[in-house]
Amino acid sequence: MNVIYAIDVDFMSFESSSTIESVLHEQRVFSPSLDESNKCRISGLNSYQKMVDEAQVDPIKFWGDAARKELHWFEPFTNVLNWNNPPFAKWFEGGKTNISFNCLDRHLKTSNADKCALIWEGEPGDVRRFTYKELHSEVCKTANALKSLGIKKGDLVALYMPMVPEAAIAMLACARIGAPHSVVFGGFSSEALRDRLIDGDAVAVITADGGFRKDKEVSLKPAVDAALAGNSCPNVKSVLVVQRTKADIEMQSGRDYWWEDVVTPQSSDCDPEYMDSEDRLFVLYTSGSTGKPKGVVHTTAGYNLWAHLTFQWIFDIRSDDIYWCTADVGWITGHSYIVYGPLSNGATTVMYEGVPRPSNPGAFWELIQKHNISIFYTAPTAIRAFMKMGRAIPDEFDLTSLRLLGTVGEPINPEAWMWYRDVIGREQCPIVDTWWQTETGGVMISPLPGATPTKPGSATLPLPGIEADVVDSDGLSVPANEGGYLVVKRPWPGMMRTVHGNEKRFRESYWEFLRPKDGSYIYFAGDGARRDTDGYFWVMGRVDDVINVSGHRLGTMEIESALVSHDAVSEAAVVGRPDSVKGEGIVAFVTLESGRASTEELQTDLINHVSSEIGPIARPDEINFSEALPKTRSGKIMRRILRDLAAGADVKGDTSTLEDRSVLDKLRN
Ligand code: WTA
Repeated sequence: MNVIYAIDVDFMSFESSSTIESVLHEQRVFSPSLDESNKCRISGLNSYQKMVDEAQVDPIKFWGDAARKELHWFEPFTNVLNWNNPPFAKWFEGGKTNISFNCLDRHLKTSNADKCALIWEGEPGDVRRFTYKELHSEVCKTANALKSLGIKKGDLVALYMPMVPEAAIAMLACARIGAPHSVVFGGFSSEALRDRLIDGDAVAVITADGGFRKDKEVSLKPAVDAALAGNSCPNVKSVLVVQRTKADIEMQSGRDYWWEDVVTPQSSDCDPEYMDSEDRLFVLYTSGSTGKPKGVVHTTAGYNLWAHLTFQWIFDIRSDDIYWCTADVGWITGHSYIVYGPLSNGATTVMYEGVPRPSNPGAFWELIQKHNISIFYTAPTAIRAFMKMGRAIPDEFDLTSLRLLGTVGEPINPEAWMWYRDVIGREQCPIVDTWWQTETGGVMISPLPGATPTKPGSATLPLPGIEADVVDSDGLSVPANEGGYLVVKRPWPGMMRTVHGNEKRFRESYWEFLRPKDGSYIYFAGDGARRDTDGYFWVMGRVDDVINVSGHRLGTMEIESALVSHDAVSEAAVVGRPDSVKGEGIVAFVTLESGRASTEELQTDLINHVSSEIGPIARPDEINFSEALPKTRSGKIMRRILRDLAAGADVKGDTSTLEDRSVLDKLRN
């Protein structure tokens, strides 16, 4: 199939954007106080603008200086950027470094050696702390253990883990020996895990017996067994298992090893592999418009620099900060802003196994109080859920340790932004609304706490060196306040390098969708946005067939494929519907094979089927049975009509291209 054609983008999407409709028209601008600004590295809009100008005038000098200053190099690079073969970029060519060295070893020579690197809190309340020295030692042991299992530089290792310290340790250990990791979110099904193991050609899996979530034990190892069953992944030679829940699990002799047995006896010395700047650091799968999830490839030096710099700029990290990001390491936010960004900067990062749950709705606030957390980074969906529960819950806790709040993953509506500021931040904490993606490696558009006046609902301005814009389908900038495609017009160090095993898809999905007449390459993010007259970006959500449920990215096509793999289903179309807490909910329209009855049992069965094919995060909220789906004469499903119907709105826009107009009435019924 032609990938570009299949991207169902139309400017209608800007009107029926998934962003939750705002009833609050907050016009205030919140500027950093002078006092606050003076404490920050980037203090005031002038210093921000100076950096922007420097990066604009001489990007090679800007990025080269930053890389030399911020990272440790075993061998210096000889060329900052090779963009001779766009869209394939090479950054810091000739250089050799290792991200695990930058995150650990270099801090051991400083006063950070005995500083707390990681505070981990399990859902049942168990706490573990690691100083930089201790974390280094654990990572070295694990790296030696991986070597003892025969894992070599270049081998891909999959992680399917709960949120335990061993997840971060395993990532750093892989990086140390040069084995790229592929972290698969622990909430994905065994089917989804198998697809990723096969696509990435994994040689080993690191997992746990299970984990704790919402007062329940979640099992993981059995899903690994199911993914590997029937020799479906013949390249996977070993499975390393952390004991967390003490569940009774099967261990296959010669393949499965307990962490305790293999890691604990190892030496705590392990020299880091000298990695080329462009050696693969990790592959992380994410959903796109078409086909199966794609393996986004990030490489060593550019990613390290981008995670490091953005973390430093955006959180203006200070030596006594206790920083907590509530994401899961299975997503890019966990990679860049639980593990690599904070540790590369020598910060103290907090990791929490659980999520707020009915038995403890104040879990987050309790943790902030308990660990004196000063920087808190979470998703708008969580803020909206807390808002719904009422301020009495956070009001019970002492949140005065907080100095900075962040959000990520989806557009934040001004109501949620104001609530976050007033109730959690006591009107004292700047809010950084950070726009970015798995593909961008780190944040691209965000306020800087000491520099940028904020407007509730806007991610504000691009970071220095990031040339973001809003353009039309010819790649031309649109006037202020007009909707268009969000793009990035220059390469940046943290950019993805390719789609694993599919360069064509990399080119077509991101770089060839919009081709300006001058032939330049601009990066298309898949989001719609507008810029206001101050140049502030207002991201409106996806304009392709990707939906964002509670900050989780899902391709409608993946869910459709899961539905049609059920024997009762003939055809399926999936769309997002605005949801006041989750951002978007999943609505499916399904036509059945002849002879199959549209019963409530079948609805439940289909919902469970999707959950077991992909994972509980992809469960449809609603399944509608329909005799037919609205299609164009060329057979393309008109999802925009379904989006309007799912939202309970009038069908807007042109319907003249519908092949059979009676379908609309049937659907309405
Ligand atoms: C959305 C998560 C508006 C956007 C880091 C993007 C946002 C997708 C924001 C990437 C934000 C992320 N405002 N939308 N601050 N942050 N998004 O790859 O649609 O899981 O394309 O990376 O999330 O999701 P991903």
